[in-house]
Amino acid sequence: MDKETLIKLDFAKGLAREAGLVAKKKIGNLGWTHLKSGFYDVVTDADVAVEKIVKYEIEKAFDDETVLGEETGEDKKGKNGKIWIVDPIDGTTNFSKGIPHFCVSISYVVNDDPLIGVVYDPYMDELYEAVKGNGAFMNGEKIKVNETSELTDAILNTGYQYSATEYRDVVLRNYSAFFGKVRAIRVFGSAVLDQCYVANGRIDGFWEYCLKPWDVAAGSLIAKEAGASVIGIGEEFSIYGKTIVVANPNLISKILEVIKS
Ligand code: IPD
Ligand code: CA
Ligand code: CA
Repeated sequence: MDKETLIKLDFAKGLAREAGLVAKKKIGNLGWTHLKSGFYDVVTDADVAVEKIVKYEIEKAFDDETVLGEETGEDKKGKNGKIWIVDPIDGTTNFSKGIPHFCVSISYVVNDDPLIGVVYDPYMDELYEAVKGNGAFMNGEKIKVNETSELTDAILNTGYQYSATEYRDVVLRNYSAFFGKVRAIRVFGSAVLDQCYVANGRIDGFWEYCLKPWDVAAGSLIAKEAGASVIGIGEEFSIYGKTIVVANPNLISKILEVIKS
Protein backbone atom coordinates (compact mmCIF):
# COMPACT_ATOMS: atom_id res chain seq x y z
CA MET A 1 0.00 0.00 0.00
CA ASP A 2 1.45 3.41 -0.88
CA LYS A 3 2.05 6.08 1.74
CA GLU A 4 -0.76 8.38 0.59
CA THR A 5 -3.33 5.56 0.81
CA LEU A 6 -2.09 4.58 4.26
CA ILE A 7 -2.40 8.17 5.49
CA LYS A 8 -5.94 8.38 4.12
CA LEU A 9 -6.90 5.03 5.63
CA ASP A 10 -5.67 6.05 9.09
CA PHE A 11 -7.40 9.38 8.77
CA ALA A 12 -10.71 7.74 7.75
CA LYS A 13 -10.51 5.27 10.64
CA GLY A 14 -10.01 8.04 13.20
CA LEU A 15 -12.78 10.12 11.67
CA ALA A 16 -15.29 7.25 11.48
CA ARG A 17 -14.70 6.49 15.17
CA GLU A 18 -15.06 10.12 16.18
CA ALA A 19 -18.24 10.51 14.11
CA GLY A 20 -19.72 7.25 15.41
CA LEU A 21 -19.20 8.33 19.00
CA VAL A 22 -20.88 11.69 18.32
CA ALA A 23 -23.88 9.81 16.88
CA LYS A 24 -23.95 7.39 19.80
CA LYS A 25 -24.09 10.28 22.30
CA LYS A 26 -27.00 11.79 20.43
CA ILE A 27 -29.13 8.67 20.20
CA GLY A 28 -30.92 9.28 23.50
CA ASN A 29 -30.74 13.02 23.15
CA LEU A 30 -32.06 13.89 19.72
CA GLY A 31 -32.74 17.49 18.78
CA TRP A 32 -35.02 17.82 15.80
CA THR A 33 -36.21 14.99 13.54
CA HIS A 34 -38.06 15.60 10.32
CA LEU A 35 -39.18 13.86 7.17
CA LYS A 36 -37.38 14.27 3.87
CA SER A 37 -40.34 12.84 1.98
CA GLY A 38 -43.59 10.97 2.62
CA PHE A 39 -44.02 9.72 6.19
CA TYR A 40 -40.99 7.45 6.08
CA ASP A 41 -37.76 9.15 4.99
CA VAL A 42 -36.49 10.46 8.31
CA VAL A 43 -33.54 12.74 8.96
CA THR A 44 -32.33 13.75 12.43
CA ASP A 45 -30.14 16.57 13.66
CA ALA A 46 -27.48 13.92 14.26
CA ASP A 47 -27.32 12.95 10.55
CA VAL A 48 -26.66 16.57 9.66
CA ALA A 49 -24.27 17.24 12.57
CA VAL A 50 -22.20 14.12 11.89
CA GLU A 51 -21.99 14.85 8.17
CA LYS A 52 -20.87 18.40 8.94
CA ILE A 53 -18.03 17.14 11.14
CA VAL A 54 -16.89 14.53 8.61
CA LYS A 55 -17.02 16.95 5.69
CA TYR A 56 -15.22 19.66 7.64
CA GLU A 57 -12.42 17.30 8.73
CA ILE A 58 -11.91 15.87 5.23
CA GLU A 59 -11.80 19.29 3.60
CA LYS A 60 -9.41 20.54 6.30
CA ALA A 61 -7.05 17.58 5.91
CA PHE A 62 -7.11 17.38 2.10
CA ASP A 63 -7.91 20.84 0.82
CA ASP A 64 -8.06 19.88 -2.85
CA GLU A 65 -10.53 17.02 -2.31
CA THR A 66 -14.30 17.01 -2.15
CA VAL A 67 -17.05 15.10 -0.40
CA LEU A 68 -20.29 13.55 -1.57
CA GLY A 69 -22.41 13.19 1.55
CA GLU A 70 -25.97 11.94 1.81
CA GLU A 71 -27.23 15.03 3.61
CA THR A 72 -25.43 17.67 1.56
CA GLY A 73 -25.33 15.81 -1.74
CA GLU A 74 -22.59 18.01 -3.18
CA ASP A 75 -19.70 17.37 -5.54
CA LYS A 76 -21.13 14.35 -7.29
CA LYS A 77 -18.01 13.29 -9.17
CA GLY A 78 -15.24 15.10 -7.29
CA LYS A 79 -12.08 16.55 -8.74
CA ASN A 80 -9.80 14.51 -11.03
CA GLY A 81 -12.04 11.49 -10.50
CA LYS A 82 -11.31 11.44 -6.76
CA ILE A 83 -14.02 11.82 -4.15
CA TRP A 84 -14.86 10.97 -0.56
CA ILE A 85 -18.32 9.40 -0.21
CA VAL A 86 -19.95 9.56 3.20
CA ASP A 87 -23.05 8.21 4.86
CA PRO A 88 -23.01 9.97 8.25
CA ILE A 89 -25.54 7.56 9.74
CA ASP A 90 -26.58 4.46 7.82
CA GLY A 91 -29.60 3.10 9.64
CA THR A 92 -31.26 6.43 10.45
CA THR A 93 -34.70 4.89 10.90
CA ASN A 94 -33.26 2.59 13.58
CA PHE A 95 -31.29 5.47 15.10
CA SER A 96 -34.31 7.80 15.25
CA LYS A 97 -36.17 5.29 17.46
CA GLY A 98 -33.16 4.46 19.64
CA ILE A 99 -32.40 1.10 18.00
CA PRO A 100 -28.61 0.67 18.28
CA HIS A 101 -27.98 -0.78 14.83
CA PHE A 102 -26.43 1.88 12.61
CA CYS A 103 -22.99 2.97 11.47
CA VAL A 104 -20.87 5.68 9.91
CA SER A 105 -19.54 4.93 6.43
CA ILE A 106 -16.59 6.71 4.80
CA SER A 107 -15.01 5.78 1.51
CA TYR A 108 -12.44 7.20 -0.84
CA VAL A 109 -13.29 6.56 -4.48
CA VAL A 110 -11.06 6.94 -7.52
CA ASN A 111 -12.66 6.90 -10.98
CA ASP A 112 -15.89 5.45 -9.56
CA ASP A 113 -13.97 2.60 -7.94
CA PRO A 114 -13.70 2.49 -4.12
CA LEU A 115 -10.06 2.46 -3.01
CA ILE A 116 -10.65 2.79 0.75
CA GLY A 117 -13.69 1.77 2.78
CA VAL A 118 -14.15 2.35 6.51
CA VAL A 119 -17.30 1.61 8.54
CA TYR A 120 -17.76 2.11 12.27
CA ASP A 121 -20.56 0.61 14.36
CA PRO A 122 -20.34 2.50 17.67
CA TYR A 123 -22.57 0.19 19.70
CA MET A 124 -20.68 -2.97 18.81
CA ASP A 125 -17.45 -0.96 18.80
CA GLU A 126 -16.61 -2.63 15.49
CA LEU A 127 -14.43 -0.86 12.96
CA TYR A 128 -14.34 -2.39 9.48
CA GLU A 129 -11.68 -1.36 6.99
CA ALA A 130 -10.50 -2.30 3.52
CA VAL A 131 -8.12 -1.00 0.91
CA LYS A 132 -8.50 -2.37 -2.60
CA GLY A 133 -6.22 -5.40 -3.01
CA ASN A 134 -5.27 -5.58 0.67
CA GLY A 135 -8.02 -7.64 2.35
CA ALA A 136 -10.67 -6.63 4.86
CA PHE A 137 -10.36 -6.27 8.62
CA MET A 138 -12.60 -5.82 11.64
CA ASN A 139 -10.94 -4.26 14.68
CA GLY A 140 -7.59 -5.12 13.10
CA GLU A 141 -8.36 -8.83 12.53
CA LYS A 142 -8.63 -10.16 9.00
CA ILE A 143 -12.21 -11.15 8.09
CA LYS A 144 -13.59 -13.36 5.39
CA VAL A 145 -16.95 -14.51 4.10
CA ASN A 146 -18.33 -17.82 5.31
CA GLU A 147 -18.57 -20.94 3.15
CA THR A 148 -22.31 -21.64 3.24
CA SER A 149 -23.19 -23.24 -0.04
CA GLU A 150 -26.87 -24.17 0.32
CA LEU A 151 -29.73 -21.70 0.37
CA THR A 152 -31.43 -23.81 3.01
CA ASP A 153 -28.51 -23.07 5.38
CA ALA A 154 -28.47 -19.38 4.54
CA ILE A 155 -29.56 -16.27 6.40
CA LEU A 156 -30.08 -13.47 3.88
CA ASN A 157 -30.56 -9.81 4.59
CA THR A 158 -32.42 -7.33 2.48
CA GLY A 159 -33.83 -3.85 2.80
CA TYR A 160 -36.14 -1.64 0.87
CA GLN A 161 -36.17 1.90 -0.36
CA TYR A 162 -38.21 4.54 1.43
CA SER A 163 -40.59 5.17 -1.44
CA ALA A 164 -43.36 2.59 -1.39
CA THR A 165 -43.94 2.88 -5.12
CA GLU A 166 -40.65 2.42 -6.98
CA TYR A 167 -39.70 -1.27 -7.16
CA ARG A 168 -42.60 -2.16 -4.84
CA ASP A 169 -43.72 -5.24 -6.79
CA VAL A 170 -40.24 -6.55 -7.39
CA VAL A 171 -39.30 -6.15 -3.72
CA LEU A 172 -42.36 -8.07 -2.56
CA ARG A 173 -41.96 -10.74 -5.26
CA ASN A 174 -38.35 -11.34 -4.27
CA TYR A 175 -39.16 -11.58 -0.61
CA SER A 176 -41.82 -14.11 -1.34
CA ALA A 177 -39.59 -16.06 -3.75
CA PHE A 178 -36.96 -16.55 -1.01
CA PHE A 179 -39.56 -17.37 1.63
CA GLY A 180 -39.37 -21.12 2.29
CA LYS A 181 -36.13 -21.49 0.32
CA VAL A 182 -33.70 -20.01 2.85
CA ARG A 183 -33.28 -20.47 6.59
CA ALA A 184 -34.26 -16.88 7.32
CA ILE A 185 -34.65 -13.45 5.77
CA ARG A 186 -33.74 -10.44 7.88
CA VAL A 187 -34.27 -6.70 7.46
CA PHE A 188 -31.85 -5.15 9.96
CA GLY A 189 -32.13 -1.61 8.56
CA SER A 190 -28.53 -0.74 7.68
CA ALA A 191 -27.47 -1.70 4.17
CA VAL A 192 -23.85 -0.82 4.98
CA LEU A 193 -23.73 -3.14 7.99
CA ASP A 194 -25.49 -5.83 5.94
CA GLN A 195 -22.51 -5.78 3.54
CA CYS A 196 -20.08 -5.84 6.48
CA TYR A 197 -21.97 -8.79 7.98
CA VAL A 198 -21.52 -10.74 4.75
CA ALA A 199 -17.83 -9.80 4.97
CA ASN A 200 -17.37 -11.19 8.47
CA GLY A 201 -19.52 -14.23 7.78
CA ARG A 202 -22.38 -13.42 10.18
CA ILE A 203 -24.83 -13.59 7.31
CA ASP A 204 -24.67 -15.42 4.02
CA GLY A 205 -25.98 -12.88 1.55
CA PHE A 206 -27.61 -9.51 1.01
CA TRP A 207 -29.62 -7.99 -1.81
CA GLU A 208 -31.35 -4.65 -2.29
CA TYR A 209 -32.75 -2.33 -4.96
CA CYS A 210 -32.53 1.44 -5.09
CA LEU A 211 -29.41 2.08 -3.06
CA LYS A 212 -27.27 5.19 -3.35
CA PRO A 213 -23.45 5.51 -3.66
CA TRP A 214 -23.08 6.23 0.08
CA ASP A 215 -24.93 2.97 0.87
CA VAL A 216 -22.52 0.79 -1.10
CA ALA A 217 -19.13 2.49 -1.64
CA ALA A 218 -17.41 1.39 1.58
CA GLY A 219 -19.52 -1.73 2.24
CA SER A 220 -19.06 -3.27 -1.20
CA LEU A 221 -15.27 -2.85 -1.01
CA ILE A 222 -15.13 -4.40 2.48
CA ALA A 223 -17.26 -7.32 1.28
CA LYS A 224 -15.19 -7.84 -1.90
CA GLU A 225 -11.94 -7.70 0.03
CA ALA A 226 -13.34 -10.34 2.42
CA GLY A 227 -13.92 -12.63 -0.55
CA ALA A 228 -17.54 -11.83 -1.43
CA SER A 229 -18.91 -11.61 -4.93
CA VAL A 230 -20.67 -8.29 -5.50
CA ILE A 231 -22.97 -7.99 -8.52
CA GLY A 232 -25.90 -5.94 -9.80
CA ILE A 233 -29.31 -7.26 -10.80
CA GLY A 234 -29.73 -6.97 -14.58
CA GLU A 235 -26.91 -4.42 -14.63
CA GLU A 236 -23.21 -4.43 -13.94
CA PHE A 237 -22.53 -3.49 -10.33
CA SER A 238 -21.44 0.12 -9.90
CA ILE A 239 -21.57 2.36 -6.86
CA TYR A 240 -23.72 4.66 -9.02
CA GLY A 241 -26.01 1.79 -10.06
CA LYS A 242 -29.30 0.87 -8.43
CA THR A 243 -28.99 -2.75 -7.38
CA ILE A 244 -26.70 -5.00 -5.40
CA VAL A 245 -26.31 -8.64 -4.45
CA VAL A 246 -23.48 -9.59 -2.08
CA ALA A 247 -22.68 -13.16 -1.06
CA ASN A 248 -19.92 -15.68 -0.82
CA PRO A 249 -19.00 -17.14 -4.23
CA ASN A 250 -20.75 -20.46 -3.43
CA LEU A 251 -24.11 -18.79 -3.04
CA ILE A 252 -24.18 -15.79 -5.34
CA SER A 253 -25.54 -17.52 -8.44
CA LYS A 254 -28.14 -19.41 -6.37
CA ILE A 255 -29.37 -16.13 -4.92
CA LEU A 256 -29.46 -14.46 -8.32
CA GLU A 257 -31.39 -17.40 -9.75
CA VAL A 258 -34.16 -16.93 -7.18
CA ILE A 259 -34.26 -13.17 -7.79
CA LYS A 260 -34.52 -13.75 -11.53
CA SER A 261 -37.26 -16.35 -11.13
C1 IPD B 1 -30.98 3.20 4.44
C2 IPD B 1 -30.54 1.92 5.13
C3 IPD B 1 -31.56 0.83 4.92
C4 IPD B 1 -31.83 0.59 3.44
C5 IPD B 1 -32.27 1.88 2.77
C6 IPD B 1 -31.19 2.95 2.97
P1 IPD B 1 -30.17 5.45 5.63
O1 IPD B 1 -30.00 4.21 4.59
O2 IPD B 1 -29.32 1.49 4.64
O3 IPD B 1 -31.12 -0.39 5.45
O4 IPD B 1 -32.83 -0.39 3.31
O5 IPD B 1 -32.43 1.62 1.39
O6 IPD B 1 -31.60 4.14 2.35
O7 IPD B 1 -31.27 6.31 5.12
O8 IPD B 1 -30.47 4.90 6.97
O9 IPD B 1 -28.84 6.13 5.53
CA1 CA C 1 -27.72 4.88 3.92
CA1 CA D 1 -27.85 8.03 6.06
